[in-house]
Amino acid sequence: MSKNKLAKFAELENFPNVFQNFTPLQPALTCCGEKAEMKGRWKELFFRNENPVVLELACGKGDYSVNLARQYPGRNLIGIDVKGNRIWTGARQALDEGLENVAFVRTRIEQLGEFFAPQEIAEIWITFPDPFPRKSRAMKRLTSPRFLDIYRKVCEPGARIHLKTDATGLFEYSLEVLAEEGIAPEEVIRDVHGMARVPEELQILTYYEKMHLEAKKKIHYLRFRLFPENSQR
Ligand SMILES: C[S@@+](CC[C@H](N)C(=O)[O-])C[C@H]1O[C@@H](n2cnc3c(N)ncnc32)[C@H](O)[C@@H]1O
Repeated sequence: MSKNKLAKFAELENFPNVFQNFTPLQPALTCCGEKAEMKGRWKELFFRNENPVVLELACGKGDYSVNLARQYPGRNLIGIDVKGNRIWTGARQALDEGLENVAFVRTRIEQLGEFFAPQEIAEIWITFPDPFPRKSRAMKRLTSPRFLDIYRKVCEPGARIHLKTDATGLFEYSLEVLAEEGIAPEEVIRDVHGMARVPEELQILTYYEKMHLEAKKKIHYLRFRLFPENSQR
């Protein structure tokens, strides 16, 4: 492991805006060396307000988390990723700017239900998730029925889910999953940056998005609402 990565991991342990789950088999969050019982209490204990909690899943360096927090002080943002060295970038930026409406959780997305209570989440952004193109790994895609069920367990009824991706296969797969679940998407854009006027929230560029744009790839966007009754199972 590089020295730089080790230094970032050490720093993360003392960041007051980073909560880490070190042992997936015994899920628990730690912040600044202390156990943090956050489930159902994010607004009370961290944000200290009643504003809606918005997740960015597969947040990487947390571009959406930091930018949405900056642009919308009335929203509470939480970036989720398993990679600490990536989360470090967004968390450091938020601390340097004094942004108090953004936090990061280092965990696997599969474990959301351990750290968020039913109906605690108002909205989810899924930004450039790994596409898992092989059919045998479809269950790992963040828009698979398995993950939608995980989101249902923590989202309020009617919560909006946003997906931004360069991966056409993942995008089409996501539309198929929604059709199978009886969910009509609210918005489907196949070439975000080809639009005459890019909607404000979609103007935020992530680290991966910039690389895809340099490679001349089209960026796809999808938005839908998650209701408990959409579940087919
Ligand atoms: C392609 S990167 C995108 C990062 C960022 N959203 C961006 O656009 O720059 C995908 C991210 O998803 C994270 N990831 C993949 N599967 C995950 C999982 N099951 N739980 C948590 N993070 C996951 C990876 O660690 C990686 O940072």
